[in-house]
Amino acid sequence: MVTLPTPAEARAVRRTLRGTVGLVPTMGALHRGHISLIARAAEQCDVVAVSIFVNPLQFGDPEDIAHYPRTLEADLAVCAEAGAHVVFAPTVSEMYPAWPDPPATAVSVRGLTENWEGASRPGHFDGVATVVAKLLIQCTPDFAMFGEKDYQQLKVVNQMANDLDLPVTIIGLPTVREKDGLAMSSRNAYLTVAERMAAPMLYRVLKECAGKIGRGQLLPRVLDEGGAALERAGFMLDYLEARNAETLATIDRVDKGSVRLLAAARLGRTRLIDNVAV
Ligand code: PAJ
Repeated sequence: MVTLPTPAEARAVRRTLRGTVGLVPTMGALHRGHISLIARAAEQCDVVAVSIFVNPLQFGDPEDIAHYPRTLEADLAVCAEAGAHVVFAPTVSEMYPAWPDPPATAVSVRGLTENWEGASRPGHFDGVATVVAKLLIQCTPDFAMFGEKDYQQLKVVNQMANDLDLPVTIIGLPTVREKDGLAMSSRNAYLTVAERMAAPMLYRVLKECAGKIGRGQLLPRVLDEGGAALERAGFMLDYLEARNAETLATIDRVDKGSVRLLAAARLGRTRLIDNVAV
């Protein structure tokens, strides 16, 4: 496995590669969720690249980025073990030469970014779309793997790649969970012992709501009951929404497989997100 620190090197190495290339963009602190994306890329592609870059452009809160876990040595071992051939781990100044000034050009996806994660974290999706566009241009993979865990992000990236005619196929892959159902996330490490015990309730409530909607119960009532159940369990609800699984548009009919439930809630200082299919 080779580690490449600069976009110029990523581009130079890319030119020498034959066969299909799969890229897994990450911010490091790798866990089983990331590993599942790397393993899928290894199954599907001749060459597997992982990018590790804690992207300052997508963080609103300076506190959040300061505390974001950085575990490069361990991450490199995880990448090698999971079947990666190339790790692209640029510095902030390589990616954004004028930093702390942001780049003059930003990629902004209208329509999919105003609500939910976009509303809670202004500028977040411009930061994500800009860095993912740069990574896809620098590494020019044939496939890029993203987790359904960040469902809105997956939709934003897909739209961006389509709109910009980037020659890549975006692959969305299922959320990897702890045994008790909690979606794996680097943020889970911030939970206290008591919060960690309450955390699986987010998935449990989503599954319950999905079951009720599938059985024909009325959406507003199901969502109200779900929100109340989360607040009783100690969550501060940010949103719990049922949307069209493809477009994230509002729903007028519930057909099997066509609805996605999306939720975000705070437990203490930690904000958790999750989503399920109906
Ligand atoms: P990060 O949070 O490191 O996640 C990298 C990828 O792993 C994303 O596609 C995310 O959806 C996926 N992932 C995270 N937890 C997962 C889980 N439990 N199961 C399956 N996949 C999971 O998302 C980002 O980084 C950044 O926004 C990035 C796309 C790299 C742009 O900076």
